[in-house]
Amino acid sequence: MSNIVWHEQAVTKLSRASLAKQKPCLVWFTGLSGSGKSTVANALEQELHRRGFHTYLLDGDNVRHGLNKDLGFTDEDRVENIRRIGEMAHLFVDAGVIVMSAFISPFAAEREMVRGLLEPDEFIEVYMNAPLEVCEGRDPKGLYLKARQGEIQNFTGIDSAYEIPRQADVALDTGTLPVEACVEQLVNYMEANGYI
Ligand code: ADX
Repeated sequence: MSNIVWHEQAVTKLSRASLAKQKPCLVWFTGLSGSGKSTVANALEQELHRRGFHTYLLDGDNVRHGLNKDLGFTDEDRVENIRRIGEMAHLFVDAGVIVMSAFISPFAAEREMVRGLLEPDEFIEVYMNAPLEVCEGRDPKGLYLKARQGEIQNFTGIDSAYEIPRQADVALDTGTLPVEACVEQLVNYMEANGYI
């Protein structure tokens, strides 16, 4: 690191964002597996895209197929997973894009680390507040069952921790709210706070 020098770039985040006529930010979805992160992030991206915004969606399962395919689900690997994703999301925000990310991101410290990589108003933490029983009842990938049967270790909510966000910017009751209502709540928040 000591022989590497940071280069200032002539085209800045501001110039990129003003060309795209938008305020770049990172909408960070956090919650248990099955709480609706990917579904709602997808639906939000669709709505923002429809309105003409430049967007990108970073999704847990997809990123773990590529950039982070060397990582598993120990606490240590989850920390590294989120560190890399945070750096990647930072680059996208710097590119002037409205980024959505859908990762369990179970630890408050790493979520705060990502927040710290960005300007104060660029990070929107969205807590997908669905009870474990509901997520487990949905079990869209059959993983809770496997975790209960001991076929998967370190499963979030079963034998691995999830730290509930204490001061999320938006909390969505995804155990009961339909997807459209979640998107509406997020769009309202983004409008009210000048993101869109
Ligand atoms: S995180 O904890 O490091 O943020 P991430 O969001 O990337 O997790 O990946 C979670 C996804 O991996 C889940 O949606 C699920 O499909 C899958 N998965 C496989 N094993 C586990 C596990 N032990 N705990 C949680 N999710 C798992």
